[in-house]
Amino acid sequence: METQYFQYKGINFASMLYSEERLHFLENDFQVRDDDVFNVTFPKSGTHWMVEILSLIRSNGDPSWCQKVPNWERIPWLEISGYAGQFADHQTSPRYFSSHLPIQFFPKSFFTSKAKIIYTARNPKDVLVSLYNFALMSTVIKTPHSFDELIEDFLNGTVPFGSWFDHIKGWMQMKDRNNFLFITFEELKKDHRGTVMKICKFLGKELDEEALDLVVEHSSFKMMKDNSMSNHSQAPEFFIDKNSNFLRKGISGDWRKCLTEAQKENVDKLYKEKMEGFNMKFVWDEL
Ligand code: A3P
Repeated sequence: METQYFQYKGINFASMLYSEERLHFLENDFQVRDDDVFNVTFPKSGTHWMVEILSLIRSNGDPSWCQKVPNWERIPWLEISGYAGQFADHQTSPRYFSSHLPIQFFPKSFFTSKAKIIYTARNPKDVLVSLYNFALMSTVIKTPHSFDELIEDFLNGTVPFGSWFDHIKGWMQMKDRNNFLFITFEELKKDHRGTVMKICKFLGKELDEEALDLVVEHSSFKMMKDNSMSNHSQAPEFFIDKNSNFLRKGISGDWRKCLTEAQKENVDKLYKEKMEGFNMKFVWDEL
């Protein structure tokens, strides 16, 4: 199936999952509730890892919900129309949503609410590698002819959800608000348990040691990969090839093996230009 995009205010979206009507409705008319929680990311930054963590925190570490219900029903996508959209609209409070929306398209009602956002970011070079592999297995992003082509699209912001640079800079305007938690994929890799504790504190959720251990155990890469409700093996064929490796490697720094020196320099150059004057340092700036 050929992937088609439409543009919403200059940003590409895959027509098979998203619609202008839904995006317009979300931005202008969707009513955020004070007890809503949003898992926000740029694609391939650890969205589904956070879905698993949040699901397990909600169930006090009991893995049975994660083992019986697919991840897109547990914490549904805010912006998807049709198929998976029904799950977002039929939740009862407290509602949890995942979203890749850039800040300018987020429901206006959020900004006057007490609802919480957990924003997870990842080294853009690892995002690129993950996105390229995803583009080869899924129909929600156009299949690139080469890695170089994907890198160009990523740097130009023509991949779905637009520019990584604009996404993170946009959302970081919220970083000092007490209803916003900034997490990195790298931090989760380095200190899975400590980061889960941080998330619990942010959500006001107290888990005992045993429950915390269960959250960490069942949101590990291996557990998720072996769980058919988390590894996308049950996802619709139109969206992803069932035999694909949706949970591919789950590591930080894979870009070192996958990018040539020229590709690295190209990304670094644009990163420097785009992040110039932005007064925040990230873990990957040191790498
Ligand atoms: P890789 O392709 O580098 O393996 P998203 O959920 O935003 O689409 O992000 C997907 C990336 O998160 C994939 O990266 C996937 O393997 C990784 N991921 C998902 N669950 C993970 C886990 N429990 N531990 C580590 N990485 C995980």
